[in-house]
Amino acid sequence: MMLAILPILFLISSLQASLLPGEKATPKKETRRGSCIRCCDSSEQPVSITSSRYIRMTSDSAYSLPKVRPTIDITILKGEKGETGSTGLSGPEGKEGQPGLQGSNGRKGQKGQLGLPGNSCKQYYVAFSVGRRKPLHSSDYYQHVTFDMEFVNLYKHFNMFTGKFFCYVAGIYFFSLNVHTWNYKETYLHIMRNNTEAAILYAQPSERSIMQSQSLMLDLLEGDEVWVRMFKRERENAIYSEESDIYIIFNGHLIKPAIE
Ligand SMILES: *[C@@H]1O[C@H](CO)[C@@H](O)[C@H](O)[C@H]1NC(C)=O
Repeated sequence: MMLAILPILFLISSLQASLLPGEKATPKKETRRGSCIRCCDSSEQPVSITSSRYIRMTSDSAYSLPKVRPTIDITILKGEKGETGSTGLSGPEGKEGQPGLQGSNGRKGQKGQLGLPGNSCKQYYVAFSVGRRKPLHSSDYYQHVTFDMEFVNLYKHFNMFTGKFFCYVAGIYFFSLNVHTWNYKETYLHIMRNNTEAAILYAQPSERSIMQSQSLMLDLLEGDEVWVRMFKRERENAIYSEESDIYIIFNGHLIKPAIE
C-alpha cells in the first residue's frame, strides 16, 4: 500500500528508534539520515519515513515499518543558474487569422463638380453603309437616289423608306458616295443637306465607264438630313449597277459628336 498522499510531512531525525521499537533488529535502517512523521492527523500514529519520494509499506499494516531505498538528492548536484541564451530564430509564419470586424463609416465626401449638359440621344455611335443594285437614268426632274440594301445601318439612322440619313446626334460626320459611270453618258449627282446641294459628283461622258466618288465632312445639326439626288436631264446622265454586283454605295459615320 502506497502512502503517496500525506497531508503534511515533517522531517524528524533521530526519532526512528524510539517510535518504532521493532526496528532495532534491522541494521540497514542505520544509514538513514532522517525520517518523516505524519503529525496532522491525531487519530493515527505517526509514521516514520526516510523520504517522501519513495516509500513502500509492508503488507501487514499501513503503519508498519516501511522498506526504504536510499535515493540521491538531485538538487545537491544542481549548479548555479546559467546566463540567458541568445534569442533564437523566428519560427514559421502562423496561419492567417479570421477577418476583422467591419470598420465604422467614413466621413461624407465633398460635393462634386457640375456635370456636362445631358443629351436626349445617348447614342454617340453613328454609321451606315447602303447600296443600290438598280441602275438609274436621268429624267425631266430631279430624282432621289434611293438604296435597296444595307451593309451597315447602326440604329437605323439611315431611313431606307425615305432614302435619307437623319441626324439624331449633332456633330461632325464623314460621307462618301461611290458610283459607276455609264459609258457615253454623263454622271451628275448631288450630295444633299436638307434641300441644299452640299457637294457634286460629276463625270463627263466617256467611251469607258469608270468608278467615280465624292466625299466630304459636314457639321450637322440634329434634324438635318443628308441624301443623294440625280440631276435632271439636260444631257442624258445615268449611273450603272447590277443585281449581282453593287456599284453604288453611300457611306456615312459620326466622327465627333457636338456634345460629349
Ligand atoms: C434641316 O431640316 C430640319 C427639319 O426641317 C431642320 O430642323 C434643320 O434646321 C435643317 N437644317 C438646316 C441646316 O437648315
